[in-house]
Amino acid sequence: MNIDGRTEIYGIVGWPLGHTRSPALHNAAFERMGMNAVYVPMPVAPGGLRAAVEGVRALGIKGLNVTVPHKVEVAKYLDRVEGVAAELGAVNVIVNRDGELVGHNTDVEGFGLSMEKSGAKVEGAEVAVLGAGGAARSVIRALIDAGAGGIQLFNRTLSKAEETADALGGADAGIDVRAFSDAKVDTIISDCSIIINATSLGLKADDELPMNPALIRRGQLVIDLIYEPWKTRLLEAAETAGATATNGYGMLVFQAFEAFRLWTGSAPPLDAMWEAGLREGLNG
Ligand code: ATR
Repeated sequence: MNIDGRTEIYGIVGWPLGHTRSPALHNAAFERMGMNAVYVPMPVAPGGLRAAVEGVRALGIKGLNVTVPHKVEVAKYLDRVEGVAAELGAVNVIVNRDGELVGHNTDVEGFGLSMEKSGAKVEGAEVAVLGAGGAARSVIRALIDAGAGGIQLFNRTLSKAEETADALGGADAGIDVRAFSDAKVDTIISDCSIIINATSLGLKADDELPMNPALIRRGQLVIDLIYEPWKTRLLEAAETAGATATNGYGMLVFQAFEAFRLWTGSAPPLDAMWEAGLREGLNG
């Protein structure tokens, strides 16, 4: 890598940033495309976000990914928020267009593309979504866009699930809401062809499972948005039951793919990104 006066700077802001595969994905694409650009992790603590965004303007940083816990707050420091990012109130990409900072959301499209790549049949499917936070919102938006037959949204906190469902069109958009404690949960999950874990349960080794694994059956597709650990206990249970198990790595790569396109106007080499992120996982 050759850093000089014309090197364009990109990065990711979040807290705690910990280990992130995003630099590996984007730097691999810059390198493969022969671009004079670099992508660096930028940990920004809560309370520091406004100053960080001002820094983007002052330093001429070309683009940023935004991750937990800043995706909602960041919108108020930007000049504009476009499309689905405005609808969901969640920004995961900032584009610096000659000093104008524009917020976008590529998580929705990233999840949609990852479903396409995995060959999942979403159209007409009954889908169980576990969790109702920011990640769940992007997933549900993508499922609606892909023509899901119905979305069964389950969450520990019912009021939060209701809020999320309302923001996405509620019952009119085919979203049914229940608490995990609801007596009908087991029957409904068994009847769904796709189950998606969008809770944070599984990030830690001693986390309980987000659902009863005995409900998983052959023929179902179980997706866990978590990819670190690579295979959560939920995905292990899905494999044991003979279901198809997929983690969230595809969503990570495809949201990065779309972010790269927004920043540079060019599609990055998907295979180079995919492989670089896998290698980073082995090193990290
Ligand atoms: P993200 O942006 O990753 O979606 P989030 O908005 O904090 O993060 O959402 C976390 C999700 O995981 C929520 O659905 C949360 O449930 P609550 O709304 O009830 O808080 C869920 N979650 C986190 N810890 C959980 C736990 N111990 N049991 C059940 N659900 C949990």
